[in-house]
Amino acid sequence: MRMTLATTIMKPPSATGTDEYIAITRDFLLKDDQYLNFDIYGSINSFSKEEPILLACKDSAITNLKMAIANNQFGQFYIKKRDEGKFNLFLETTLQNVLTNRDATLEKKATVLYTCAKNAVTDVFNNPRSGKNVARVQNIAEGILRLIMNNASSASVLAKLCAHDFYTFTHSVNVCVFGISFWKMLGFGGNDKALQDFAVGCLLHDIGKSQISKNILKKPGRLNKEETKVVRKHPELGFSLMEEYLSQISLNIILYHHERFDGTGYPKARVMQDIPIEAKIASIADVYDALTTHRPYAGAQKPFDALKVMLEEMEGHFDQEQLVAFIRLLGGESAA
Ligand SMILES: [Fe+2]
Repeated sequence: MRMTLATTIMKPPSATGTDEYIAITRDFLLKDDQYLNFDIYGSINSFSKEEPILLACKDSAITNLKMAIANNQFGQFYIKKRDEGKFNLFLETTLQNVLTNRDATLEKKATVLYTCAKNAVTDVFNNPRSGKNVARVQNIAEGILRLIMNNASSASVLAKLCAHDFYTFTHSVNVCVFGISFWKMLGFGGNDKALQDFAVGCLLHDIGKSQISKNILKKPGRLNKEETKVVRKHPELGFSLMEEYLSQISLNIILYHHERFDGTGYPKARVMQDIPIEAKIASIADVYDALTTHRPYAGAQKPFDALKVMLEEMEGHFDQEQLVAFIRLLGGESAA
């Protein structure tokens, strides 16, 4: 499921299908030196019955739009529905500017970021061998970090956007948001590169599932022995897929996020002291998000109930001290 940043509006009389106009936010048309690869239209406001007017065409520079923005004649900008994918990619390339734009609200920034994140992660899952898609995810990780590190309330704004339906890609973004907040709380904030690698690892922790049949991943009931064996291959599959692209920290998350404190995890059955810290942090965020979202085989639990399950029924899975810290983190967030 691809997310959109634009809203479909009522069709003007002449427009049909991919010719429909969709409203876009103009706050993010920022970088003067960028060229558009789609047409932009404008109207006085979103209630106008008139067909929107072409303001800037494909291959023109953003600068041309500045006048239209400045004279305030056009309150609402549009693109054609067929250009929606191009528009979302355009936002992705200008993402770091979007996030530092003083005129945009935190909610708008978080929405753009979350949407770009889902689209990029979806694409890397569909085509994990594309270095270009991996680079897009790295750009997204930088964006998520930038927003969370620069704005105290951004993590909870992002967390509110976290989808409640379980798809591997939305789950990956959620784990990244929870994981970064948790990492920050535990005080590992010093090294930017490490945190960036941690964020990338969280976004791609389940990338190995891209190699597993959807029939198994989406099976509504319990998995049989053979299917469980197949699913449990995803950490190693992910590791070999990403080995040439990612750092050790990111790879550790992919390979070890199903290891458990007491050595009952997979694929290596490592015990506490042999599990890299980044994988331990990611695994708490991973299990929490899985329990609190609706999955094909289980309903969503309330945050309190999920934490209770992790504390009481999953004894030996996590570092108890870290789990208590995570509970405190979520308690603080819901109180904020
Ligand atoms: Fe996993």
